Amino acid sequence: MTKQHDVIIACDFNSQAETLAFLERFGSRRPFVKIGMELYYAEGPAIVRALKERGHKIFLDLKLHDIPTTVKKAMAVLSRLDVDMTNLHAAGTLAMMEAALEGLTRPDGSRALLIAVTQLTSTDQQRMTEELLIERPLPEVVRSYAQNAAQAGLDGVVCSPLESPTVHENCGSYFLTVTPGVRFADGEVGDQARVTTPAKARELGSDFIVVGRPITQAPDPLAAYERCLAEFLGE
Ligand code: C5P
Repeated sequence: MTKQHDVIIACDFNSQAETLAFLERFGSRRPFVKIGMELYYAEGPAIVRALKERGHKIFLDLKLHDIPTTVKKAMAVLSRLDVDMTNLHAAGTLAMMEAALEGLTRPDGSRALLIAVTQLTSTDQQRMTEELLIERPLPEVVRSYAQNAAQAGLDGVVCSPLESPTVHENCGSYFLTVTPGVRFADGEVGDQARVTTPAKARELGSDFIVVGRPITQAPDPLAAYERCLAEFLGE
């Protein structure tokens, strides 16, 4: 079995029109795209259908976190959108993750990849300890949440590329790491604190990299996407 690797473009736009205008710049290319809360709350399921019709693979990044029954029912609704990947918060507990997986699985057994957010990269040790009262070291919390996700039967986690080696060591090499926080060596870092280049992310074992502004804000987004693919896939 070979593992799939790809670059996922974070389409952080607030309308379908803006998203389609951006994707028009890719000609006949159909990159894997991420639809987050901003775009989904603005346009609803129609944006998923529109991008699927164009032939894009879709990561629906809605980060569900609620009681198990609610998440199970919500995942069952999302399963009908036929996306390729979706996610939830591991903090919702094993019971919630198991329920989510059940809800997401269609009667024929097929389903989207389900991945868990461990700790958001915007949460640092101090906030986690002082506000959330989680006193263990952040890397240990990330590792433990990833192990819970694996135990619940999920396919992987969203994490920093720097955490990919630990996640693979503890959860197995086939457990996916989907990693934002990627920047070109000569690019702007912006608000991302811990960044790596596409090549470094691959070296650290990331399976999918999620790249937003280095592609969406580039003067030539297609060229930036192709550079990203070349650096990440080593092609
Ligand atoms: O523009 P940039 O490359 O920083 O975009 C990264 C994308 O990944 C954004 O959509 C952001 O919300 C998402 N993300 C992240 N860090 C996480 C989880 C998701 O940057 N821990």
